[in-house]
Amino acid sequence: MYTVTLIPGDGIGPEVTKSMVKVVEATGVNIKWEEVKAGQEVIEEYNTPIPTYVIDSIKKNKVAIKGPITTPIGKGFKSVNVTLRQNLDLYVNLRPIKSFKGIKSRYENIDLVIVRENTEDLYAGIEHKIGDYGAESIKLITKPACERICEFAFKYAMDNNRKKVTGVHKANIMKLSDGLFLNTYREVASKYNIEYDDLIVDAAAMNLVLNPQNYDVMVMPNLYGDILSDLCAGLVGGLGIIPGANIGKEYAVFEAVHGSAPQIANQNIANPTAIIQSSVMMLRYLGEYDAAKKIENALEQVFLNGKNLTIDLGGRALTKEFTEEIIKYI
Ligand code: NAI
Repeated sequence: MYTVTLIPGDGIGPEVTKSMVKVVEATGVNIKWEEVKAGQEVIEEYNTPIPTYVIDSIKKNKVAIKGPITTPIGKGFKSVNVTLRQNLDLYVNLRPIKSFKGIKSRYENIDLVIVRENTEDLYAGIEHKIGDYGAESIKLITKPACERICEFAFKYAMDNNRKKVTGVHKANIMKLSDGLFLNTYREVASKYNIEYDDLIVDAAAMNLVLNPQNYDVMVMPNLYGDILSDLCAGLVGGLGIIPGANIGKEYAVFEAVHGSAPQIANQNIANPTAIIQSSVMMLRYLGEYDAAKKIENALEQVFLNGKNLTIDLGGRALTKEFTEEIIKYI
C-alpha cells in the first residue's frame, strides 16, 4: 500500500481531484490518501496558504498529488506552487503534450514533452522596489541548475525512446543568463548519443504553432516553460487535458498544468482529464504500470467514443458523468 499526500486545492481543485481519486481507485491500486488543505481556505487560520503540515506530509510520504491553488495577482502571499517547488527542491517540471483521437483541435499526432526548470529564473522571487519609480526582478540562472535540468531532459529522452531534444532560450539578448543555460545545454548534449538542436524562445512559439510535430523533448528555463506549456496545451484541445509532474531527487508532486479556473468552480463542469493524466504519471512513478495503462486506455476510449465529454471539449457532460464514463471503461 502507498500513502500519498492529497492536496485538493481551491477553485475547481476539489471537484477534479475527487474525480481523479475515484478513477485511480477503480483500477484497484491500493493507495491511502492523506488529505491536507492548502490555499485560500487556510490563510485566515494559519496566516499562510501553505502551513508547515503540508510540507511535512509530502516529506513523510515522498509523493503528492495536488489540485490548483489560486495565487492573488500582484499582491499577497508568494505562490504556493513556487514555494513547494523551492522548498522540496522539485527541480523538474515535466509536461507531456499529446493529442487524443476524438478531441477536436487544429492538429493531430502531437507528442512532445516540455521539461521546464522549476526552481529559479524570474521565479526565484528576488524582487525589490526602486522607491515609487520602479521595481526590479532578478533573473537568476545558475550552472548547477542548468546542468541538472538538461541532464534530466537528455536522460528522459534516452529512456523514453525519444528522437530529439531542443533547448529553448533567449541567449541572443540575455547573453549571460540564457547564455549560461545554452552553453551548459550544449555541454550536456555532447555527452549523449541523440539528435539535438536549440531555438530562440520567440521562434519556438511560432514554430510550435506552425509545425508542432517537428518537436519531441524541449528543455528550457522556468518562464519560457510556463508560457510554452499553455501554448502547447492549446494545440491539443486546451488546459483541461495537460498533466504535469514536479520531480526532485527525493520527492514528487503531480498536478495539472491548469489553474483554479474560479469562473467555473463549484459547477461540476470542469474537465478532470489533466489531473487524471497527472495521476497516470504518478502511478508510473510508483511503479504501478498496469493501473496507469488501464486509465490511459480508458481515456483513449472515452475520447474516441466522443460521448459524455465535458463542455470545454464541446460536449455537455458534467464532471461526474465524464468520470463515470472513464470508470466504465476501466
Ligand atoms: P486557469 O488555468 O485557471 O484558467 C484558464 C482558462 O482555462 C479558463 O478559461 C478556465 O475556465 C479554463 N480551464 C482551466 N482548467 C480547466 C479545466 N480543468 N476544465 C475546463 N476548463 C478549464 O488560469 P488562470 O485563470 O490564469 O488562473 C486562475 C488562478 O489559478 C490564478 O490565481 C493562478 O495564479 C492560479 N494558477 C494555479 C496553478 C496551480 O496551482 N498549479 C497553475 C496556474 C494558475
